Parts: sequence; C-alpha cells; structure tokens
Amino acid sequence: MSERAEADMVTVQVRDDIAWVRFNRPEKRNAMSPKLNRQMLRVLEELEFRADVGVLVLTGEGSAWSAGMDLQEYFRDTEAQGLEGVRRSQREAYAWWERLRWYQKVTIAMVNGWCFGGAYGPLYACDLAFCSEDAQFGLSEINWGILPGGGATKVAAELMPMRKAMYHALLGETLSGREAVSAGLVNEALPAQQLEARVTEVAKKLLKKNWATLKATKDAMRRVRPLTYDEAQDYLIRAQEALNWHDETDGRHRGMTQFLDDKSYKPGLGEYDKSK
Ligand code: ACO
Repeated sequence: MSERAEADMVTVQVRDDIAWVRFNRPEKRNAMSPKLNRQMLRVLEELEFRADVGVLVLTGEGSAWSAGMDLQEYFRDTEAQGLEGVRRSQREAYAWWERLRWYQKVTIAMVNGWCFGGAYGPLYACDLAFCSEDAQFGLSEINWGILPGGGATKVAAELMPMRKAMYHALLGETLSGREAVSAGLVNEALPAQQLEARVTEVAKKLLKKNWATLKATKDAMRRVRPLTYDEAQDYLIRAQEALNWHDETDGRHRGMTQFLDDKSYKPGLGEYDKSK
C-alpha cells in the first residue's frame, strides 16, 4: 500500500464559483486506488450543495488525467481479501462515479493527459469533456487480459459509433485528443496551454444560466436515452413541472418578462439576466 494519506488523494480549490477537483496521485499517474475512490466521494459530497459552487471541473495533477484502476491496490490487493474485498472496492469506485453522473452541479472533465480503462467511468459521468490535444485515451483492458468492465464497455458503446467502439476495445490502441473528439469521447481538444482557459470560459458561460434548469436539463439528457419517444415526452413534462417547483428563483417567468415585456434580451441569442 502507498504511504500517502487518504485525504491527500484529491485536491480541491474553489474559485469564482468553479470547483477545481484534481486526482492527486501523479506519481502513480492518478490510478484509482480504494483510498482515492473513498476520498473522491467525500470531496464530491462536501461540494455538491455549496452555494459558491456552480460548476465542478475534474482534472488531474501531473501528466495523467487518470491511468484507470490501480492494478496493485484496486485489483491485486483487494482480490487477496476475497470476494468481500473485491465487492467493497467496486462499490467505492462506482459510488462516486454514480454521484458524479447525477451531480447537482454541471461537471466538466478536463482531461490533461492519460485516460485509461476505468477512467472512462468518471469521464462519462462528467457532463462535458475537454482534453489536451496530447492526451491519450485507451481501453487497455484487452492488453492485460480482462474485458473493459466497471462500465467502460458501456461508455464506449454509448459515446462511440459501433465500429469505432469495437475497434477501440479489441485493439487496445490509444486515441489522441483529436481522435477522441471524432470518436465522440470528448467535446473538444485544445493545445495543452489553452485547455484551462477554454474550460474556464465554458464554465463561466454556464454560471450565467439558471442553475436549477441546468440540473434538470442534464438529467433529462441522460434519462431520455433509453426511453421511447412517448415515455421521454411524458418524463419531460413531469421534469419541467418539478422544475417549476424546485426553481426558487422562478426563472421561466423572469425570462418571459424580460423578453415579452421589457424587451431587454432575446432568448434565442443568450440567457436572461439573473440579477434582475
Ligand atoms: N495501476 C497501478 N499503477 C500504475 C498504473 C495503474 N493503472 N498506472 C501507472 N502506474 C504506476 C506505475 O506502475 C509506476 O509505478 P512505480 O513508479 O512505482 O513503478 C508509476 O505509476 C508511473 O508509471 P509509468 O508506467 O512509469 O509512467 P509512464 O508515464 O511511463 O506511462 C502509462 C504512463 C502509459 C499510463 C503507464 O503507466 C500505463 O500503461 N499504466 C497502466 C494504464 C492501464 O492500462 N490502466 C488500467 C486500465 S484497465 C482498468 O482500469 C480496469
């Protein structure tokens, strides 16, 4: 086991309503160990409902975003503890990915480097993803004799066209940042020195929107995927009606007033002014 303290596995900085959360095991390429997984869940829980956090960015210290599951601490050490140890460590990992998938705030993966295997779980959990052009993405499981588990196969099948997903999983080759864009894994690839500025720019745009509406919209986008059209339509009616209740700022009426009565903005071209 590594000597590093559990609380040290993740760093957090909150600046201007953006929480910058970093995998912090650069010496192990931010591989996800049980300690890192437990600490990440704590960090996410602590930040989720803070009034000064509107967007969460998940990135990594050093040359990696995350090199996937830790082969020593997540696999070998827990397998030595038998089924109970294996299931416990799976639950610890899956718990924070699930929390992130349905997170209260908008989440952005800022993929600064290596992204392998199990790291596709949090990659998919984030609502948006931006990467460095020199980041590298891989389903490397095939290269060491396992299938892409822990959701990684599902992530590839959800985000990538079938032929690309199959090739990616069977060959275990890496994709560059730009290739990851064309495969559908991330939104944009940028030169490394521009990555943080672009992510900050996108986060600032999101912060101007109605936060309750962002949460309802991102959940809706994930929820409707497996539904029929009619089921989706029904879900969306209920979700909007729930939003009318949960949005204490009454955004939709303020938006309508500013457009129809004040004529101070055009919804087609930008968001209403939350300060009025
Ligand atoms: N699990 C455990 N240890 C890891 C992992 C990992 N996933 N990734 C890196 N490390 C460790 C290395 O063993 C090494 O430890 P050491 O310094 O004690 O020897 C340290 O991190 C640095 O790794 P290097 O290999 O020296 O770093 P390099 O920058 O040359 O290569 C790379 C980086 C390509 C990410 C390489 O480390 C690698 O292939 N890692 C494994 C990636 C992978 O296949 N992950 C599993 C995906 S499958 C799944 O998640 C279920």
